[in-house]
Amino acid sequence: MSISKAVIPVAGLGTRFLPATKTTPKEMLPVVDKPAIEYVVEEAAAAGLHDVLLVTGRTKRAVEDYFDVAPELEQALEAKGDLDRLAAVRQPTELADLFFVRQGEPRGLGHAVLCAKAHVGDHHFAVLLGDDLIDARDPILPAMIALAERTGGSVVALLEVPDDQIHLYGSAQVQRVTSEVGAGLASGSVPIEPADVVLVTGLVEKPAAEDAPSNLAVIGRYVLSPAVFDVLERTEPGRGGEIQLTDALAALAADPHGPGGGVYGVVFRGRRYDTGDKLDYLKAVVRLASDRDDLGPDFRDWLGGFVASFE
Ligand code: G1P
Repeated sequence: MSISKAVIPVAGLGTRFLPATKTTPKEMLPVVDKPAIEYVVEEAAAAGLHDVLLVTGRTKRAVEDYFDVAPELEQALEAKGDLDRLAAVRQPTELADLFFVRQGEPRGLGHAVLCAKAHVGDHHFAVLLGDDLIDARDPILPAMIALAERTGGSVVALLEVPDDQIHLYGSAQVQRVTSEVGAGLASGSVPIEPADVVLVTGLVEKPAAEDAPSNLAVIGRYVLSPAVFDVLERTEPGRGGEIQLTDALAALAADPHGPGGGVYGVVFRGRRYDTGDKLDYLKAVVRLASDRDDLGPDFRDWLGGFVASFE
């Protein structure tokens, strides 16, 4: 099995970021100096996923244009000899083979993934959600891909969250697996212990803390068996009246010996930034800017003084 396709849903309305997202897709909001979506496509490409399908919607033209060439701008930069900016402008067009499909109506994440069925065909594929940025130094997808290849099942990335946050995520019920299943996986600078690899036996979308099977939250990285498409076609609207990917994965998890081959989880312990709401977005920008070689030293100096002014 060789996994080469990624699906990135970008059809959401971005209501948590209004009014900025009235005319700008939330995926285009800059994280330091690149739109959030570029980090996600970079992550897919770095994991060897060079066929990237973006599931877009009516208001997402800017995303399509961003990954296209910009001849006038490129010529102007070339004429000025501004080669660094020229390279930065060309970068997104060179990352991967980009494809687009439109999700006519916003009927939920599960429905967005179902829109990828014809493009993906009968192969395992990855799904990356744009609100979660995984630090390029701690990639999790290669380990998830290796686990899907090893088991033939689907794989979700899990994050331990405080009890009062689990209602924001899908929550996983898990069981230990034998250590061979989880051996030899790594996430960049962060080792993955065999105990961080689990069998998912149940999933609940955004439960109240008291109903959550665990505080292991599904974060926005999935490697899925194509069996998920048949399940999604039968999945009724769930939480929020939307067709939930979590519900389809719960059905696959309940049938580990069925065509989907079960669902596994990898507990992620690396650096992740949530750009989905305003406060977390601000934290992501500050953390990533602080780490940059070009901006970091000056920015950290200023930030230290700024923080001290509150004391
Ligand atoms: C989606 C999924 C949820 C998952 C989350 C991760 O929710 O439905 O299961 O935990 O992404 O970010 P959303 O945040 O799109 O509402």
